[in-house]
Amino acid sequence: MLKRSLILVSALTLLCSSLLFNVSAQDAPPPTPEEVAAAAADTRQALFKLLRHNLGPIAGMARGAPFDAAIAERNARRIAAIAPMIPELLTPDTRGFDLETEALNKIWEGNLEDIGVKAQALVDAANTFAGIAAAGDMAATLGAFRSLGGACANCHDVYRVDNN
Ligand code: HEC
Repeated sequence: MLKRSLILVSALTLLCSSLLFNVSAQDAPPPTPEEVAAAAADTRQALFKLLRHNLGPIAGMARGAPFDAAIAERNARRIAAIAPMIPELLTPDTRGFDLETEALNKIWEGNLEDIGVKAQALVDAANTFAGIAAAGDMAATLGAFRSLGGACANCHDVYRVDNN
């Protein structure tokens, strides 16, 4: 009797786990190429939003907002820390998908190496800027802003839809 109920229990367990497996397999079908491309575009755009989030206060100081050397340095170091992800997140080729994107097709026409060069130029500019901000001199720091912002524009001018 005991043996029989054990067999019943294990059979039920097997049934349940195979049902669960089927349910979760149905819940998560493999993503379509469109979904993969949309996720890649979302991720890279999130990185660029973070770059803007950090550059924004520095640009504000350059336009006359109260100078804060610590924030200028901190944000530039953040930019230097996350900008190396640009080439990685621009590597997935999303040409030909119906996406919300400002990325130009020519990124994926043999230019990923140049994307790497431009991303590294941003890292270098951000590190240089952070070093200057760390010394705390307002005029010197704001004077260095142009080359930091310029490192963003140098890439946008070539690889992003011209919208500004
Ligand atoms: C190596 C190239 C490159 C560099 C460097 C770069 N960007 Fe971009 N950026 C792009 C591309 C390409 C897009 C378009 C992405 C898309 O729409 O899929 C973009 C988009 C953006 C967007 C729009 C994001 C959105 O969809 O809401 C912002 C904001 C932005 N960049 C800010 C910056 C800032 C700030 C910097 C410098 C600190 C910077 N970028 C440096 C290539 C670059």
